[in-house]
Amino acid sequence: MLTVAEAMRQRRSTRSFKRTPVPDEMILEMLEAARQAPSASNSQPWRYVVVTDPEEKKELRRLCFGQAFIEEAGVVFVVCADLSSYSGSTYKKRRQEAVDAGVLPASALSDPVYKRLMESTDDPDLAVYVTPATANTYIATEHIVLMAAALGLGSCWVGAISDREAIKRLLGVPENSMLLGLVAVGYANGTPPYRPKLPLEDILLRPFPATAGDK
Ligand SMILES: Cc1cc2nc3c(=O)[nH]c(=O)nc-3n(C[C@H](O)[C@H](O)[C@H](O)COP(=O)(O)O)c2cc1C
Repeated sequence: MLTVAEAMRQRRSTRSFKRTPVPDEMILEMLEAARQAPSASNSQPWRYVVVTDPEEKKELRRLCFGQAFIEEAGVVFVVCADLSSYSGSTYKKRRQEAVDAGVLPASALSDPVYKRLMESTDDPDLAVYVTPATANTYIATEHIVLMAAALGLGSCWVGAISDREAIKRLLGVPENSMLLGLVAVGYANGTPPYRPKLPLEDILLRPFPATAGDK
């Protein structure tokens, strides 16, 4: 298996796959990578449907503007975020777990700021959590992508979806789960081209390391 650094350097979006199944052990390894991801307050909003059935993959392709690699991939992870991960009762459970695990002191449960937050989220409008749910789920899903690379598999994120509701119906995704995207994973057919990345100076808002005279 590749190291994380090797996987990050070697990964590139793969849009042509051999029709070779991906073993269940590898699929479970990728899901485990997602499961271990960090999230704000350990909210873990990510939810997945694992699709290996040829007919379902064909339908997913149709519902994603006909992108052929979705049907070719050995496995497609359908990426969802459960907004109820941000309900007051779930948040309380996560907080209690953090105290039990020794991450937070017991006083965290009687903290006035926390108590006020709990009161304000008794009946939350979960729509306000769309952004954190999306951000946290993307982090976990990139773990899947990097684990795929570490296992020698290719992958490609899919955000171009023509009918989200139809995919939710097809796979029985619950109402309060948002469908965020797909990740197609499989054995690459050839080596995908490298897509150029911005040079370091373009992503730094100030130089690093600081040049002489800079403070
Ligand atoms: C959120 C997200 C959605 C994407 N959606 C698609 C897609 O629908 N179809 C596709 O071919 N590539 C898709 N991509 C892949 C990007 O085009 C690709 O990551 C980018 O061009 C950089 O290339 P690289 O991944 O090889 O470094 C998506 C990537 C991300 C992160």
